[in-house]
Amino acid sequence: MAEVLEQPEGTFVTKEQNVNPWSVSGEVNEDGTVKPIDYSKLVEQFGTKLIDEALLERFERVTGHKPHRFLRRQIVFSHRDLEVILDRFEKKEPFFIYTGRGPSSNIMHIGHMVPFQLTKWLSDVFQVPVIIMLTDDEKYLISDHGRTVNEYEVYAQENAKDIIAVGFDPERTFIFSDFGYMGGDFYRNIARIAKRINRGTADACFGFDSSTNIGKVHFAAVQAASSFAGSFPFMFGPDSNQIPCLIPCAIDQDPYFRLTRDVASQLKYAKPSLIHARFLDALQGPGSKMSASIESSCILARDNPKTIMTKINQYAFSGGRETLEEHREKGGNPDVDVSYQYLRFFLESDEELEQIRQDYKSGKLLTGEIKKKCAGELATFCTSFQERRAKVTDQILEHFMTPRPLLCRGALSNTLL
Ligand code: TRP
Repeated sequence: MAEVLEQPEGTFVTKEQNVNPWSVSGEVNEDGTVKPIDYSKLVEQFGTKLIDEALLERFERVTGHKPHRFLRRQIVFSHRDLEVILDRFEKKEPFFIYTGRGPSSNIMHIGHMVPFQLTKWLSDVFQVPVIIMLTDDEKYLISDHGRTVNEYEVYAQENAKDIIAVGFDPERTFIFSDFGYMGGDFYRNIARIAKRINRGTADACFGFDSSTNIGKVHFAAVQAASSFAGSFPFMFGPDSNQIPCLIPCAIDQDPYFRLTRDVASQLKYAKPSLIHARFLDALQGPGSKMSASIESSCILARDNPKTIMTKINQYAFSGGRETLEEHREKGGNPDVDVSYQYLRFFLESDEELEQIRQDYKSGKLLTGEIKKKCAGELATFCTSFQERRAKVTDQILEHFMTPRPLLCRGALSNTLL
């Protein structure tokens, strides 16, 4: 457990870096400032593997696609059994992609878009079905806002429209909310999983204690159950639990799937493979994570170019120097500069990004200039997102949320077995 420090005001902060499905914080320095998240430490702590050059080369060889910029730039940096998925792709054996979102509000920020952009790209590369879970039940169970079940169901619908606007293929993608889809083979798998996780294991994995409500404990089985194809019998049929999935997620979700993989062995189901993304820093800088409820911490997908420019100018932590003279002489630090970090996530050209890095480091590029470049790229991203979002009607939403066979490498999934 992380050590807890008592602050003068009586609030508590953890001293060690702490990453779990409900909160993310970097290590706190003596002076109260926060260190960036140490991702290699997480790989060690969680027992995952780094995605190395050799694996990326194999990815490219097997799929014929240059890895996505998130993979090329170690934004997606860690994995479990990605090789298993590449083997299956090579052998033309079926598999699917599973990801999800906790609909904590009806607002999504650009950090939320990262795993979905990756998921969309992967589904285009592999041409396999995508299952997207919206955990309205989880967000109700963990929240202390006093919001109702129904409010979370509404957020799930709104979020689903945002997710569709990332560009998912309507023939290959099934989106569901837990409250809406609960039952049938999904619930059968949930019960099988729940029976095989005891309190001690869950407490150790998630830090639960005697004050944790039992819904939150049980939810671990719900999130796990979507890893198994048999929970979606319309996809590959009811007896398809041996068909594995690949789960793109942010690294904080790994504890759920560590448990899932253990249970999969006991049930003789396919173990899910995972690829893990790092977080997009809040505007305030490394060591923090964007939060949609704190306006000044993030860029929202619905922000207009003017708002984006204002937020970047006002809040984006700068790696630049105090004065123009000093900056020209000594150069800036791209590693902590939020605008540069966002460009790493959103600027496609490797050459252009490298040029920006060099120019910023040498002092040729000024803080105001890198902020402008960053705001411009984000505006392009958000504007095209908003154009697609405006076209997502209720009928389109209903189509995505209807259980049905999905396309898998050109064939209807239910005809493949
Ligand atoms: N628990 C996740 C969240 O709060 C949502 C989620 C469910 C998820 N299943 C997932 C995320 C699979 C990634 C992969 O956001």
